[in-house]
Amino acid sequence: MKSYMIQGAKIIATGSAIPSLKVSNEQMSSFVETSDEWIFTRTGIKERRLLTESGKSITDLAVEASIKAINSIAMDPKKIDLIILATSSPNDLFGSASKIQNEIGAINAVAFDLTAACSGFVVGIITASQFIFTGTYKNVLVIGADALSKWVDWSDRSTCILFGDAAGAVIVQSCNSVSNSILNFHLSTDGNYADYLSIAYKENLEPHPTLNLCQGSFKYISMNGKEVYKFAVSQVPLSILKCLNDINLSVKDVDWLLLHQANERILTAVAEKLSISSHKVISNLSKYGNTSAASIPLALNEAVQSNQVSRNDIVVIAGFGAGLTWGTVVIRW
Ligand code: UT7
Repeated sequence: MKSYMIQGAKIIATGSAIPSLKVSNEQMSSFVETSDEWIFTRTGIKERRLLTESGKSITDLAVEASIKAINSIAMDPKKIDLIILATSSPNDLFGSASKIQNEIGAINAVAFDLTAACSGFVVGIITASQFIFTGTYKNVLVIGADALSKWVDWSDRSTCILFGDAAGAVIVQSCNSVSNSILNFHLSTDGNYADYLSIAYKENLEPHPTLNLCQGSFKYISMNGKEVYKFAVSQVPLSILKCLNDINLSVKDVDWLLLHQANERILTAVAEKLSISSHKVISNLSKYGNTSAASIPLALNEAVQSNQVSRNDIVVIAGFGAGLTWGTVVIRW
């Protein structure tokens, strides 16, 4: 990481929000041909939360998660300079961050959406830290929120059993550069494999009669699960190692490994490749499934609230997913 650091950055608050509706694997087996046994052994998922309330969207979850983070440190929302909403399921294609800005009363904040699928939260934290390192902003709210239930084909058992809805938020604040806690990052993209995981836009066959212009709509999530699995297990450990090596840390220094919660088998395989004990792997996937950009801040918030993560711990966070995109950030808590 080459950064022109005028000031350091640290995470000072976390929050999260989940919908109230819980759907178990048994319930899933009532409408697609699957079983609790298949889902749990192949993914580690037991249940997921789905946003079913009429009129509710990721904006509502993101607002709730943000307010919890803000209230946890009794911060005046007017002090927030920037809001980054990492999502692939906004309820407005022009972006949902500005609605969050309005609803939480962060009237002085610039707000924008960031789309990098399941890597979105990691990209968001890194983007926030760059604005802070350069002295541009002091307080940045980073939110990861997704409701992929809106984009799943509920008759496709290979994808619908995986996803859940949620939001997580953190506040990143500037500090003296000596106290900087965002120690390093590494980001990668390989668009050659973009088709492995997508919510593609498809044009209708009937063009406009005079303009010859086609309009269309977005399709359901499609995923080549096997290939995405192989990519994650091969690339994520390399990204983590590079990130640690660059700052002269080793896997032995890692206190917590927090990966995008896609599949328990991926978490186990990555930890094994890195020789990191399973006790250091943060996992809450059994309760929520894959919540895309929300999975990391949701798990982080739970780990912080339960005092699993304590001050000065080295937390290695890695996201991966559609794009294909992947990336790591190393944090001293
Ligand atoms: O968040 C973005 C990142 N996403 C990921 O990291 C996802 C990565 N991929 C995965 O986690 C796994 O590939 C899956 C969990 C999606 C699938 O597990 P898999 O072990 O790769 O299974 P598979 O796709 O190879 O399917 C094995 C069998 C197939 O049957 P046949 O062809 O062997 O007869 C599937 O039709 O399991 C069948 N199958 C199911 N059976 C019961 C697929 N889905 C289901 C299901 N219930 N829900």
